[in-house]
Amino acid sequence: MKAVIPAAGFGTRFLPATKSQPKEMLPVFDKPTIQYVVEEAVASGIDDILIVTGRGKRSIEDHFDRSMELEATLKNADKCDRLKIVQDITGLADICYVRQREQNGLGDAIACAEKHIGSEPFAVLLGDSITKGPTPCTKQLIDVYNKYQKSAISLEAVPQDKIERYGIIKGSSVENNIYKIDKLVEKPPADKAPSNLAIMGRYVLTPDIFDKIRETEAGVGGEIQLTDALQKLDAIYGVAFEGKTYDIGNRLEWLKTSIEFAMASEDGDELRQYLKTFID
Ligand code: UTP
Repeated sequence: MKAVIPAAGFGTRFLPATKSQPKEMLPVFDKPTIQYVVEEAVASGIDDILIVTGRGKRSIEDHFDRSMELEATLKNADKCDRLKIVQDITGLADICYVRQREQNGLGDAIACAEKHIGSEPFAVLLGDSITKGPTPCTKQLIDVYNKYQKSAISLEAVPQDKIERYGIIKGSSVENNIYKIDKLVEKPPADKAPSNLAIMGRYVLTPDIFDKIRETEAGVGGEIQLTDALQKLDAIYGVAFEGKTYDIGNRLEWLKTSIEFAMASEDGDELRQYLKTFID
């Protein structure tokens, strides 16, 4: 299976940090967000990845490209561990790029992948979100796709006060943590939401989604919304996946994720001591 990583958005929620650098390149502790995303695809068994980029996103390509000068410098300085970190990035997967000419929404970004994908099912991983769990989230979706032969999307239960930020599903449980989706409601008020299960940024889609995107008119914000195209598919399954999704496009979520990941690293104790000085 191939994967598509949409990474062409403006990232307006995180301005000014994202004015001239892609939000997908913002580091979470010591690694750019999009590297975690590529690593999730690879850990799910995918080695052919298409990243949808746009103007101002060149640093994404540079990150996954070889840097001969840097490699030579590290080699000469005998910094073998650093050299390995740099070389491992280039060896992760076959990565291709396509540019979304105008930021016309997530549906439009995925439409840019049609030629590369062809007529096979494919995974979509949003370039500005990271997932963590015992099994990679995308792998869990691939397993559900293989079982039901229908599109599958990741879901997470969200607290009442956050419901109106997400696409929420109406569905019925078919087995533990798996739902057959009847309807998707974009950003409903909490009291009108059909559930608290939100769409979280990982998908395995059947290729008929490209026709559905073509049939989809601009929706919220004048953009082609993926959620609107998903509604048109004959069936979709939702997977309340075992794990957690981190939305890096939101500045506070980004900061919290960075702290959480740093806490789990070898620098965790020092960070804990430092944070204690702010909390009584
Ligand atoms: P978001 O919904 O977070 O949109 O995109 P955004 O425009 O980047 O961010 P805000 O809301 O203005 O802060 C989710 C993912 O889809 C990509 C983004 O790069 C991000 O990784 N995307 C979004 C595209 O590739 N193209 C688009 O037109 C919109």
